[in-house]
Amino acid sequence: MILVDIYDMASWWTLVIALQVIVISTYFFWSKKKSKQYDPLCNGKAVEWNPIPIVEHDVTIEEPPLMGKIDDNVLNVGSSSFLCLDKEEYIIDGALKALDKYGVGSCGPRGFYGTIDVHLDLEERLAKFLEVEETCVYSYGFSTIASAIPSYAKKKDIIFADECVWFAIQKGIDASRSTVRYFKHNNMDDLEEMLAEAQRKRELNPRRRAFLIAEAIYFNTGEVCPLKRFVQLARKYKLRIILDESLSIGVVGKHGRGLTELLDVPRDEIDLIVGSLEHSFATIGGFCAGTHFMVEHQRLSGLGYCFSASLPPMLTQAAISALDIIESKPVILEELSEISKKLNSALSRLKHFTFRGDEISPVKHIYLKKDDLTDRLKHSYLRNITNYCMEKGVAMTVAAYLRDVEVNCPEPSIRLTSSRKLTDDTISLICSLLDEAYEKVGPKPELQPV
Ligand SMILES: *[C@@H]1O[C@H](CO)[C@@H](O)[C@H](O)[C@H]1NC(C)=O
Repeated sequence: MILVDIYDMASWWTLVIALQVIVISTYFFWSKKKSKQYDPLCNGKAVEWNPIPIVEHDVTIEEPPLMGKIDDNVLNVGSSSFLCLDKEEYIIDGALKALDKYGVGSCGPRGFYGTIDVHLDLEERLAKFLEVEETCVYSYGFSTIASAIPSYAKKKDIIFADECVWFAIQKGIDASRSTVRYFKHNNMDDLEEMLAEAQRKRELNPRRRAFLIAEAIYFNTGEVCPLKRFVQLARKYKLRIILDESLSIGVVGKHGRGLTELLDVPRDEIDLIVGSLEHSFATIGGFCAGTHFMVEHQRLSGLGYCFSASLPPMLTQAAISALDIIESKPVILEELSEISKKLNSALSRLKHFTFRGDEISPVKHIYLKKDDLTDRLKHSYLRNITNYCMEKGVAMTVAAYLRDVEVNCPEPSIRLTSSRKLTDDTISLICSLLDEAYEKVGPKPELQPV
């Protein structure tokens, strides 16, 4: 009896499946026939379709976005390869070997078949170098901090950030949708006032995470963060610190471990350190460093980490090789810091310009002394000055900002970088050339009424 029932059931299911097969195949048959009848290329309008150019023919480009390739015989003081590792044979050879072994790309994000042994090596090496528990490597410097911030800070949280933070941090803060307060640049009194007021208004409370965000060396001003005060305030008001050490790791400190090493601030006082591989390390990418607890969180919630293809293996290898060099020859860091200091004393003697940037900072900003001009005009003069210098064999760059999008758009400046290749002679050449360019293409002095 039961057997018969099962048999009946089986045949019933066979019938259902057979019917489904018939329906599906009829559908495909008809849809194929239909698509044969209607060919958009012949019957439709596609044949007559003429693509419209994306831009009109005679667009004049006021400001070409890139300078193009810079010759080797030009002295480049716009590039942020401070340690000049970009021409190092050892790094190039290593990268080429990695290219032979792994091919160009990594084929996927880290969590989706894009993790290759060199990535794990680099993360381990960076963690050892910085003396932290763990690091994670991103494939693009900008997206490192822009992803790291929103992976911790959420809508209900509050962020206190320096008003001069660079664009990637601003974007990270935007993406977090947290409440944000910008304090005056490097002004710890202003920050403390702001924190005290927030506490009075009960904006700082245990139900809400609060963050302090700053750069160790500010990309937009070349100035160094007063990290000790910063850490004290964070401890007093129970804030978490996210510190962007992009311009200080591989630059300052006895071993190049950044501002924390230079100022002797224990690394575990900083909740998350973010660094870049695009300056001293002369490759591409960025990393986050901290405790296992902090870093691991990003492997699932750092958007740039989860959803971007991982760093190409050859560029990862280049970062490992750069670390080899920095670890084995820390003397190059001393050379760099000597040159940064010398650059400061030379720049302070400029006739027509003022500048900003701490002695230890490899980035300096040069401003026109004449300040009764609009920003647009200043920018135009500075660009003409850099063009003049370029013709004379020194490549510099005018700092580029998205004027209407920046939180606090900085004054137009020439962003000059120090690097190991500069000598006393080249430094004085740069300075005299800047003044010469000003006299040739800069603003003309007003005629004095007689
Ligand atoms: C910069 O140079 C261009 C081209 O020579 C010139 O048209 C422009 O007026 C100059 N800018 C200023 C502010 O003098």
